[in-house]
Amino acid sequence: MSKYWSKLVSELKPYIPGEQPGNKPGEQQVIKLNTNENPYPPSPAVAEVLRHFDIDQLRQYPDPESRDLIAALAAYYHLDANQVFVGNGSDEVLAHAFQAFFKQDDALLFADISYSFYPVYCGLYQIDYRQVALDQAFQIDFDGYRNANGGIILANPNAPTGIALELAAIRQLLADNPESVVLIDEAYVDFGADSACQLIPEFPNLLVVQTFSKSRNLAGIRLGFALGQSELIEGLQRVKNSFNSYPVDSLTNAIGLAALADESYFQQCCQRIIASRESLGRELESLGFEVYPSSSNFVFVSHPEKAAETLYLELKSAGILVRYFNQARIDNCLRITIGSEGECDALLAALKKILR
Ligand SMILES: Cc1ncc(COP(=O)(O)O)c(C=O)c1O
Repeated sequence: MSKYWSKLVSELKPYIPGEQPGNKPGEQQVIKLNTNENPYPPSPAVAEVLRHFDIDQLRQYPDPESRDLIAALAAYYHLDANQVFVGNGSDEVLAHAFQAFFKQDDALLFADISYSFYPVYCGLYQIDYRQVALDQAFQIDFDGYRNANGGIILANPNAPTGIALELAAIRQLLADNPESVVLIDEAYVDFGADSACQLIPEFPNLLVVQTFSKSRNLAGIRLGFALGQSELIEGLQRVKNSFNSYPVDSLTNAIGLAALADESYFQQCCQRIIASRESLGRELESLGFEVYPSSSNFVFVSHPEKAAETLYLELKSAGILVRYFNQARIDNCLRITIGSEGECDALLAALKKILR
């Protein structure tokens, strides 16, 4: 608390990201399964970009419109360039969307268990919101979204549960709410859910947000994007151009282009993670865990005999970080990122020891 802070800043409840210990040479190497990063390196095409990048480019500001990257994303998703927006990580894109669309007379609706940044943006932008409870199986209760609202945001697959939605249910939600923006946060969609992107031509109220952090192995460069009809994209541009004209730097721009062009590497990494998720899920079940059905690059689990917090702490002392949420309804669950095959084996070995 400081006397210099505004009332708003004093009252903020900022987002707390997962621990980033940073592995230093000579120290015990931590296995990081707590922030849903990709265990595999970025595409070799990204390494090529870094080897050949002309540093003179860094002297000048980047293209404020990120035209090359936007054109490549538009081609990839079969959209027009005016239907694509890019930003500094999907967190920034989401923040702009909250500011552009969700400060309305009626409350924004989102699930009680979802990405914990959503209420944080509501605090920052003073947006009224109402959380709709997931059902007992952590599935979305669509009846809870049939009321008047100032917008709807759903993560698909949801975080931290990993549970995906049917496209038909999203279509119905869009049709039922023509006056509100419905934002589908698809940070994990490439690991097994259907993208709502194909509904964009039909629904002017749909905004899809995705990221290079997870399925494109690039959390370190901070690159996210939104897809939607031009009216919504223009709304985002108005916020961006009132905040920071150059959110995507020249290097990120070149890296993003290279990663997007390497479709086979992207598919290969996603398939490898999906295969590990399925086998890790089976192994965890054989250790007595309840494993929720995941379409993402993590699993959400609980154990009937061992408290999640204890498991989290014991794994941490064994050098393995997973995510524990001290939050009602999910305080006996752990979210575990799918690591490399070796990391999954190390996790299972540590759990076997703890549960013995
Ligand atoms: C559901 C969801 N949306 C968005 C993000 C933000 O991703 P980034 O800002 O790295 O693009 C995350 C990150 O973990 C997430 O879990």
